Amino acid sequence: MSRIFVPPIKCQGIKTKLVPLIQENLNWDRAGTWIEPLMGSGVVGFNIRPKRAVFADSNPHIINFYQAINSSILTPAVVGSFLKHEGACLQEKGGDYYYQVRERFNQEQEPLDFLFLNRAGFNGMIRFNQNGEFNVPFNHKPERFSQAYITKVVNQVRYVYDLCRLNEYTFLCQDFRETLRDVGVKDFVYCDPPYFGRHVDYYNSWAETDERDLLGYLNQCKARFILSTWHSNEYRSNPLIPDLQKRHHVVTQEHFYHVGPKETNRKPVIEALVMNYNNSSQHFYRPSLQPQQARLLERPLPTLTGTVEGN
Ligand SMILES: C[S@@+](CC[C@H](N)C(=O)[O-])C[C@H]1O[C@@H](n2cnc3c(N)ncnc32)[C@H](O)[C@@H]1O
Repeated sequence: MSRIFVPPIKCQGIKTKLVPLIQENLNWDRAGTWIEPLMGSGVVGFNIRPKRAVFADSNPHIINFYQAINSSILTPAVVGSFLKHEGACLQEKGGDYYYQVRERFNQEQEPLDFLFLNRAGFNGMIRFNQNGEFNVPFNHKPERFSQAYITKVVNQVRYVYDLCRLNEYTFLCQDFRETLRDVGVKDFVYCDPPYFGRHVDYYNSWAETDERDLLGYLNQCKARFILSTWHSNEYRSNPLIPDLQKRHHVVTQEHFYHVGPKETNRKPVIEALVMNYNNSSQHFYRPSLQPQQARLLERPLPTLTGTVEGN
């Protein structure tokens, strides 16, 4: 199995662990354009490496960052010297310096500051308050930007930089409805929406109307698509799955996430890929589930208006 590339900007709900399953289930001749209307970190498309792609997101800072790489304003060398300088300041001044850069970013909105905050902020989170200001706290690691760490981030930037030189990529800050307007029959659409009812971020809220619009679009989509969603966790099942299973092909993968610092406190979640074609590989519900989890799936499902939880 080839190595999975991890992009320079992290975000909540990043699908690094799902990339192999998506690659395995991708059935596309690459004749058209890869369309990713909710790109987040872009980890899926950047690993698929299509010849032509439209990456879009409603978060302008993610898009500004990749537009700057695409237009060669941000090069690996520029990123390297920036992180070296800012990393040294962080080491010397500690958390105060992080908050100084956060303030600067909220005034000037520079892509390099966004990268720095994403890497020095708590858990690689992206979160903006109701005024559109980045408000993630410091991760308390003033030594973060060692030479090895800078090299790692620079290599991540270089990977995307090279992809942009080799291919025709467009990065757009716009609503997913806009991005999905011009999909052609030869294109491939990958959608990974925020989990309904969970996010309260300025750029990343996801309401029932968004969910309905996206599913309504996908139900009549003329191109092939994969939709990432959650299937079930310890406590609940995704109420949309039965209907999705009636209309489309659904494959699942179980994975574990950690709650708190204890290595033993692992919680299972089952992720689903929904697609409007049937690939030969089958990854249906894993028998490794505990009996009580399997029983949970047999219970009546909550209605769409309920709040759901994700990974
Ligand atoms: C779950 S994340 C995508 C994660 C991504 N697949 C990854 O692996 O990193 C969902 C993304 O949708 C974006 N988003 C939320 N509402 C949107 C909308 N109405 N139109 C476009 N993008 C939106 C968010 O900013 C966020 O980056």
